[in-house]
Amino acid sequence: DSAYDEECDYLFKAVLIGDSAVGKSNLLSRFAADEFRLDSKPTIGVEFAYRNVKIGDKIIKAQIWDTAGQERFRAITSSYYRGALGALLVYDITRRTTFANVKKWMHELREYGNSDMVVVLVGNKSDLAQSRQVSEEEGRNLAESEGLFFMETSALENLNVEEAFLRMITKIH
Ligand code: GTP
Ligand code: MG
Repeated sequence: DSAYDEECDYLFKAVLIGDSAVGKSNLLSRFAADEFRLDSKPTIGVEFAYRNVKIGDKIIKAQIWDTAGQERFRAITSSYYRGALGALLVYDITRRTTFANVKKWMHELREYGNSDMVVVLVGNKSDLAQSRQVSEEEGRNLAESEGLFFMETSALENLNVEEAFLRMITKIH
């Protein structure tokens, strides 16, 4: 609301990207509202949520954009990335194809995103250890070779979700 706007020292935009059903919308709802849905629907178009974060003595208002992983539901890509200072690039540790597609998302980031964007590679669904197809080491190695930060998360169990967003936010400011 407007009272918050006046108190906020910085406003910045960040985006969520990654294949469909990796958990982008649930990571965002966990971060912004501490909510999780097992039966969430694929995102259509673009949605966003805000959260204020206090870092040191500054209040940072993070505006996080979320879009469809499914190509046919995606909105115009250039406007999605415009002005974004950070990104969470998400894959699902139980589906190797979503990890293989990280390269594709990196390509899109390089094409449309700001060159100095802070990017965190996120391996989500760490609660599903029994179905794991991508090791934590593989994730970490890829992040290192691409110059990204790295974190495994579980939106379901609320593991590392706050940490992943805060890593991005604190690196921006
Ligand atoms: P699109 O909007 O189609 O791009 O998908 P999305 O990346 O936003 O995925 P979404 O958040 O809708 O989650 C897809 C499915 O994965 C849902 O059934 C979620 O409940 C489930 N899910 C999301 N995060 C987790 C998690 O950390 N653990 C588990 N076990 N399931 C999760
Ligand atoms: Mg979604």
